[in-house]
Amino acid sequence: MSAPATIPGLDAAPTQHPRLLAWVREVAELTTPDRVVWVDGSDEEWERLTGQLVEAGTMVRLNPEIKPNSFWTRTDPTDVARVEERTYICSVDEADAGPTNNWMAPSDMKQLMTDLYRGCMTGRTLYVIPFCMGPLTAENPMFGVEITDSAYVVCSMRIMTRMGAHVLEAMGDDAVFVPALHSVGAPLQPGQADVAWPCSETKYITHFPEERLIWSFGSGYGGNSLLGKKCFSLRIGSVMGRDEGWLAEHMLILKLTSPEGKVYHVTGAFPSACGKTNLAMLEPTIPGWKVETLGDDIAWMRFGEDGRLYAVNPEFGLFGVAPGTDHTTNPNAMKTIAKGNSLFTNVALTDDGDIWWEGMGEPPAHLTDWHGKDWTPDSEGVSSHPNSRFCTPIEQCPILSPEFDNPNGVPIDAILFGGRRKTTIPLVSESRDWAHGVFQGATLSSETTAAAVGAVGVVRRDPMAMLPFIGYNAGDYFRHWIEMGKGSDGDATKLPKIFYVNWFRRGDEGQFLWPGFGENSRVLKWVVERLEGKAEAVETPIGYVPTADSLDVSGLDISAADLEAALKVDVEEWKAEIPQIQEWFDKFGDKLPAVLGAELDTLKARLGVE
Ligand code: GDP
Ligand code: PGA
Ligand code: MN
Ligand code: MN
Repeated sequence: MSAPATIPGLDAAPTQHPRLLAWVREVAELTTPDRVVWVDGSDEEWERLTGQLVEAGTMVRLNPEIKPNSFWTRTDPTDVARVEERTYICSVDEADAGPTNNWMAPSDMKQLMTDLYRGCMTGRTLYVIPFCMGPLTAENPMFGVEITDSAYVVCSMRIMTRMGAHVLEAMGDDAVFVPALHSVGAPLQPGQADVAWPCSETKYITHFPEERLIWSFGSGYGGNSLLGKKCFSLRIGSVMGRDEGWLAEHMLILKLTSPEGKVYHVTGAFPSACGKTNLAMLEPTIPGWKVETLGDDIAWMRFGEDGRLYAVNPEFGLFGVAPGTDHTTNPNAMKTIAKGNSLFTNVALTDDGDIWWEGMGEPPAHLTDWHGKDWTPDSEGVSSHPNSRFCTPIEQCPILSPEFDNPNGVPIDAILFGGRRKTTIPLVSESRDWAHGVFQGATLSSETTAAAVGAVGVVRRDPMAMLPFIGYNAGDYFRHWIEMGKGSDGDATKLPKIFYVNWFRRGDEGQFLWPGFGENSRVLKWVVERLEGKAEAVETPIGYVPTADSLDVSGLDISAADLEAALKVDVEEWKAEIPQIQEWFDKFGDKLPAVLGAELDTLKARLGVE
């Protein structure tokens, strides 16, 4: 009997890291790929892989004169968004997953998924992607290694993370790393033709928090397959943060400079498709103010030696919602993608090899839509999926802050929580203190969007915009937030101030009351003036709201009635909110921090609710 032939490439590992080598071998033996490729992140590799993806029909090269080195991809129509129903936190103890997560015992999930993974890479290539979330120069670089059988994932990871040979080298022989296993779950038998977007009907996005381990199966969509992003940086990251005293949050990070040259840093937690990328790249409409981008989706926040909270963006690219992005709404995103080197997924293709999506002004006379069908302005339905995305290097952003690569991050002055609500939530309110701000975050509500599979437009509680991303019991997560409010040195005055915003309130005709986008700089100005003790506010039952003339609306085309409606705290609307908040809090039983129960009592008393 001859020994089983080894898998080509398996032994060509450019590392001697024993744990990594053992894991790759174990996965290769289970999944039986045709070959193993150690990803180096080079230009040649990008050329080779994008070339193969074009050959396979997964990608179409865009017109190099318009979008150099950029590609258009259409997914399977069933594989377009995160799958929250199929996402699991497999903690040892079920109680640690809490009432907001799906749970299965780790051994049961591993058994189930091992059966799915067995032979699942037959006919495909197993890629090993060494990556680092956050700067490699960090004191403790946050290494991960993703194994995937998708070249589209490799190319996307090259944009979204620091990855490749230099990361593997930095890992040496003994660095700790998060192993993240991904398969599209579509083995190819000999002679079987591949499809342009392989995936499986069976999908699992699973996390083993105690082991800091990620297993994903069946989907190629970014949020399910680029495992450094939601899976590592948020779900596993939040567990690390709980254990080590820091925060992993679904937040944009921006740097704001006032006309006097004072610098502030602001983070903002809004649910998926509720305005983070746009705010992060904002072009202020008010004179003298400047915004620079640090991050558009994820912030890791730790206390610095000075007792202030510092934020780092662990990512290296932008994975933005395409529809609605235009020169008027988000000119900096348009400039970023114009430099090329980008991947576009489920948008429409123009006849001259450019991309188009709803919100980009007048549509061309003919497009190829995200289903690959002819589309004209008379066609029924949209040309681009509502969750279609651009994936582009953050370093191409013309307003990227020079602090982006600073491993220590930037000191945060204000945290914004925000959601998408047609009613009730005013344009902006300031919390009375940290505990009240945590209450605002813990009770944050938003209408569901196309970023996740399921109904769109349904109001749900989305605590700190982290509902799909908290890797442990949300009651413990609230407690962790309350604890952080004590400060690292007992000086809570150094903490950021917390504000609650809503760009999406509607008027009687269904119109947005607030123009949003660049005009949100007016809200940022009010926030800064509150920090400086300059702007006026009225105290309402839900916090401090701008007075009619403390918000700068000079030169803005908004009626006094609309402005009033945007800022209004309607006691009746808020009373209707109370049973929903009560029901939400009841889920957590004795895990709910008493401070938050007390905040609810305070709110009821202020609203005059029994
Ligand atoms: P993210 O997923 O949280 O990063 O959200 P995006 O910034 O990508 O925005 C999601 C959608 O909301 C896009 O279609 C945007 O055009 C739209 N949007 C973003 N900011 C605003 C705003 O201030 N007002 C309105 N009306 N829409 C916005
Ligand atoms: P988003 O990121 O927050 O920009 O929508 C993707 C996601 O949350 O799925
Ligand atoms: Mn997100
Ligand atoms: Mn975004």
